[in-house]
Amino acid sequence: MITVKNKIFTITTVGTTYIMRVRDDRYIENLYYGRRLSGDMTDDATICALTEKFNNPYGNSITTPDSEDKVTLDNLCMEFSNAGTGDYRQLPLEMTDATGNISTRFYFKDSLLYEGLYAKREDTGMPYARYYAEDRKPRTLELILEDRRGYEMRLIYTAFDECDVITRRMVLTNNSDTSVSVNKLSSLQLDLPTTDYSMLSFDGRWTSERHMHEKELISGTYSVGSVNGTSSSSHNPFIMLKNSEATEHCGSVYAFNLIYSGNHEESVEVSEYGKVRVLTGINPYGLKISLNPGESFYTPEAMMTYSHEGLGGASAHCHDFVNGHIVPEQFAGRVRPILINNWEATYFDFNKRKLLGLAKDASALGMELFVLDDGWFGHRDDDTSSLGDWYVNERKIGGSLSSLIDKIHSYGMKFGIWIEPEMISHNSDLYRAHPDWAVDVPDMEDYVGRNQYILDYTNPDVCDYIVDTIGRLLADNDIAYVKWDMNRPITDAYSKRHECQSGTFYHEYVLGLYDVMRRLTEAFPDVLFEGCSAGGNRFDLGILSYMPQIWTSDDTDVHERVTIQGGTSYGYPQSTMGAHVSASPNHQTLRSSSIDSRFNVAALGVLGYELDLTRLTPVEKKAIASQVAFYKENRDYLQFGRFIRVKKYRQLTYYQIVSEDKSRAVVMMYRDRSEPNISYDTLYASGLEPDATYRVEARRQKTSIKEFGNLINQISPIAIKEEGITQAIVNSVYALDADEESYVVTGATLMYAGIKLQQRFVGTGLEKGTRVMGDNSAALYVITKEVR
Ligand code: DGJ
Repeated sequence: MITVKNKIFTITTVGTTYIMRVRDDRYIENLYYGRRLSGDMTDDATICALTEKFNNPYGNSITTPDSEDKVTLDNLCMEFSNAGTGDYRQLPLEMTDATGNISTRFYFKDSLLYEGLYAKREDTGMPYARYYAEDRKPRTLELILEDRRGYEMRLIYTAFDECDVITRRMVLTNNSDTSVSVNKLSSLQLDLPTTDYSMLSFDGRWTSERHMHEKELISGTYSVGSVNGTSSSSHNPFIMLKNSEATEHCGSVYAFNLIYSGNHEESVEVSEYGKVRVLTGINPYGLKISLNPGESFYTPEAMMTYSHEGLGGASAHCHDFVNGHIVPEQFAGRVRPILINNWEATYFDFNKRKLLGLAKDASALGMELFVLDDGWFGHRDDDTSSLGDWYVNERKIGGSLSSLIDKIHSYGMKFGIWIEPEMISHNSDLYRAHPDWAVDVPDMEDYVGRNQYILDYTNPDVCDYIVDTIGRLLADNDIAYVKWDMNRPITDAYSKRHECQSGTFYHEYVLGLYDVMRRLTEAFPDVLFEGCSAGGNRFDLGILSYMPQIWTSDDTDVHERVTIQGGTSYGYPQSTMGAHVSASPNHQTLRSSSIDSRFNVAALGVLGYELDLTRLTPVEKKAIASQVAFYKENRDYLQFGRFIRVKKYRQLTYYQIVSEDKSRAVVMMYRDRSEPNISYDTLYASGLEPDATYRVEARRQKTSIKEFGNLINQISPIAIKEEGITQAIVNSVYALDADEESYVVTGATLMYAGIKLQQRFVGTGLEKGTRVMGDNSAALYVITKEVR
């Protein structure tokens, strides 16, 4: 709900309150953002209590003319700060007028309140948060600020009540008769009155995306961002601010994100007076927009949320927001298929026989979608050619694409395909026909990544070509799923269409990308698109607005995935995370893990398999068949239930997913390193009904005899040499039963006391019931409410 009364604006969601007031000097002061307040928040007594008092000017500071008090803008919580006014913190706008002046004086002029979303959202060319149910219709507030030279700034807030999210963006319009140059305009400015926070950012690199890092905010500016043309894996646009007393499960936490896929910057400044300013938006790196008379510059929509229930509470708001307001409506809450992807099974080296062999085995194991990855088009047998030539290599796949698809269908599976439509290889027909479509700067050396170049999506002809070509591929073939890859970042941001447009290139590229994604996803609404950028190098709300899931990381190692999926879960729900079971040793880390550990972690996302099933042992195939059956039985809540980071202690990490009605849950327990001769492990859970009774069972799985090396000879009737042929043969057909445990307890017992699990293998024997849980292993515990 949003109210406007006596120039006081209150935004109330289920659990939060946001209050602003227009001061006499026409600046907008932020009075409060936090846990929901009750009563009339606009009465004089409340406003007086919330207003900061300035009776004397601060030393060595600037005071504002015509002000109701001796305010120092440098120390006021503001909704929009101007340059040249004595507010020396990071500013949301950098603008130079025709005379070279950078100062601005945007004062409050008017406000507008209406039902629904920002009225001009389509004009922005960018995706935005939506609503799918009439009873969840949000309200929007526009605060209109004016600089008397003829510039208008709109601060636009939309309240998504049920998930406690407020979105914000700024729109600058030049109503003067000369052009201005814009070098920076944030989407969101939030000033908080106290300093007592640390900042959580989600940083990384290829195969190590979104590792959570916490930095204590002491003094100065802390910023993260990206300048490589994508939201990047260096720093995700999602950040959190955590009060020093907050934990995973309680205390004050703010979270911010941006619905944008290009260069971005999030900065958090601790001012000299101990206030905190958060700015999020497009990264100003290289940005130079010439805003002509009559033109507007739209910033992407940003989101913010607050929770008094700790990091987990803020994550839950973000998850609900993504599931309910970001992903395309037709995929909101719709269960996703279990796929088999041929990439790590074959890489480029495939033919019809190999593909069909893989598909047949996948189908026999219960998988539902076969995905043909890179290498099916042009003459691409390695990564040096053919990007841009989106026609089928019939020689390689042994006939037409539709005949391959028919065959896959005959196994009872759907068919999906990989594309990388933002790229061009120099060795391609497309490049030979249109060398000017590749992004580079004439007369400078070309910088290359994975032997490929960026297509100039700032050029509408390029966008049309891609929409036509990929559109034809999808129209002519029965394709249920598309994996949209993007394997290199942008270097020379320059389009050959104009003299020089580096200052707008990055943003125009993103607008071109959104145009292509919008047209294709609207034309093929039933096709499930999965975003990808060499794994999770472009995992953001912009992509999720068109594609409900993203390949989380090329790294499928159990240990890495616990960190990556856990890090991603702070801002994004598990329904958005592609998670595959791959080979062991893992292709990215060469680390080994059991087939069930790999599944137990992948089961916390949108499950897929990406390994050569045709070479698996009967034991492994049996394990996969039971994994697939388990996932199908539980996938409604595995994909859309509440994800909880329960606990992390010593070598153990616990993640949980619980169904909305709290009747079913799984806890994933991961052990990083095995400590010898340790006391019991405890199983912890969260988010259950305290008084209900639950049955808790370890998911049935097997332990490979290989895990015991030559110790197995202590129980084996025949001598088994480690790494010998007998070990290989026995291991392929036989495995030990593991983790047979079952308990019946109340939710309270499980949540507050925990269950002391069976003794773990401590090096002294393997009696029945002993749990085997070595390095880099994961177990799943299934929790079901007992019906009495
Ligand atoms: C990078 C992706 O992340 C992989 O899954 C695979 O699709 C390759 N590209 C193919 O080139």
